Amino acid sequence: MTTPFDDYERRLWQGRAAAYRRSFAALCGHTATALLDAARVGDRTRLLDVGTGTGTVAALGLARGAVVTAVDAEQSMVEAARREAPAADVRHGVLPDLPLDDRHFDAVVGNFVVNHVGDPAAAVRELRRVTRPGGRVAVSVWPAPAPPLQQLWGTVAAACGLRRPESAPLVAEELNFTRDRDGLANLLRGAGLAEVSADTVTWTHRADPEDWWAGPANGIGVLGAMLAVLDDAAVAKVKAEYDRTVAAHLDQDGRLALPTAAIIAAGQAP
Ligand SMILES: C[S@@+](CC[C@H](N)C(=O)[O-])C[C@H]1O[C@@H](n2cnc3c(N)ncnc32)[C@H](O)[C@@H]1O
Repeated sequence: MTTPFDDYERRLWQGRAAAYRRSFAALCGHTATALLDAARVGDRTRLLDVGTGTGTVAALGLARGAVVTAVDAEQSMVEAARREAPAADVRHGVLPDLPLDDRHFDAVVGNFVVNHVGDPAAAVRELRRVTRPGGRVAVSVWPAPAPPLQQLWGTVAAACGLRRPESAPLVAEELNFTRDRDGLANLLRGAGLAEVSADTVTWTHRADPEDWWAGPANGIGVLGAMLAVLDDAAVAKVKAEYDRTVAAHLDQDGRLALPTAAIIAAGQAP
């Protein structure tokens, strides 16, 4: 089933691989090692990376000696992941209906993709479907309320009087899950996974402020959706507000430095 949120996501990521790589890929990459550990990925593991983006996790899986398949719903991401992880089998594939056989993979991971689907429970059931009995599924999502790094966008938007546009729907309430450790663990249990565990990882993310702005400036994220409906003069005002806000959070090298957190949960397929 495709929801309005999924349709929004298809538009959001269309042609955005380069902007994603410049802005948010390093942030998301922080959890890659922990995710592969949670899925027990090692030499010769048949690994599936779902929502591979620009291929960070797929490439790390290859470095561990895994046999890697990766899928993404966005063609520019598929092409970028093929460049990043040339030995992986990278394909177009959209949750919750992957073009892959039942029970094939030893380990299935999704790094910040369950938070980009309109029906998270159906998505995790699909991850379980393609995992062999005894194999591992591991996923990461951002917590709610948002950590300080992600709150920055809301602070800037509020200061500029911006609201979430109608073109950016939320996940339907009846399909959503609580964005904390219990909420993600229960999502995995509900999909039939066993021995589920969930952890919160915290760190300080550092980024060049212009690279960080490149995400929403190119349409990524909720602020990106807000900027997309503004004219150039209005966008320039938001950028000025961003520059003012960011100035309070620069480290001694002039990089934006703010705390963030992610939830990682893993379980075993029956
Ligand atoms: C935040 S990015 C994470 C990318 C990558 N996992 C990483 O760690 O850098 C989310 C990715 O999920 C993909 N995506 C969103 N919805 C999807 C779906 N329903 N099925 C497959 N991929 C999806 C997007 O195209 C995007 O590449």
